[in-house]
Amino acid sequence: MAETKPQIEILYGSADIAKRNEELAEEIAADMGSDILVIAVLKGSFVFAADLIRALHHAGVQPQIDFMALSSYGDRSISSGTVVITRDIVDTVKGRKVLLIDDILESGRTMDFAKNELIARGAEAVKTCLMLDKKGKRVNNFEADFVGFDCPDLFVIGYGLDYAHYYRELPYIGYIVQN
Ligand code: IMP
Ligand code: MG
Repeated sequence: MAETKPQIEILYGSADIAKRNEELAEEIAADMGSDILVIAVLKGSFVFAADLIRALHHAGVQPQIDFMALSSYGDRSISSGTVVITRDIVDTVKGRKVLLIDDILESGRTMDFAKNELIARGAEAVKTCLMLDKKGKRVNNFEADFVGFDCPDLFVIGYGLDYAHYYRELPYIGYIVQN
């Protein structure tokens, strides 16, 4: 880690995020009902998921929660990059309404893979909720069902998102200003 503190420009502050989470939870509750299985994709979505499930509680949802870790191998700029499960869920998804939560939608490969996998395992429905959407970076037609905020084409950190495993603890979403 750098000795000097980097200058971080805030894109979305903690109050904006908290407000948006409550709105998202209302949208999800209206669309999916109260009996859902939340699957949070590790590691990046753990902060967002932790706040969103409490917002879901305020919206009258009683979710069950599980976790899945996914990794993309290969050069992310090459379109053949494949996604693998490095830690699987414990619960069964058969017949369940699943809400898949991740931090950021970029190429769309991670969410496309995870959604197809859960459908193949017999989930009744799979909806996706992304904290951020980098729209210009998609390599497929994947569209999320619920999105927190649009994300500019910048490498963002904080609120669960890392740069070289640092900065996940920041209570806001921002980017490092290059001097
Ligand atoms: P994709 O949609 O399959 O390209 O994957 C998106 C994944 O790449 C996310 O789950 C993040 O782990 C990572 N990622 C993409 N953009 C950023 C960023 O700006 N900051 C931190 N991680 C990112
Ligand atoms: Mg990730």
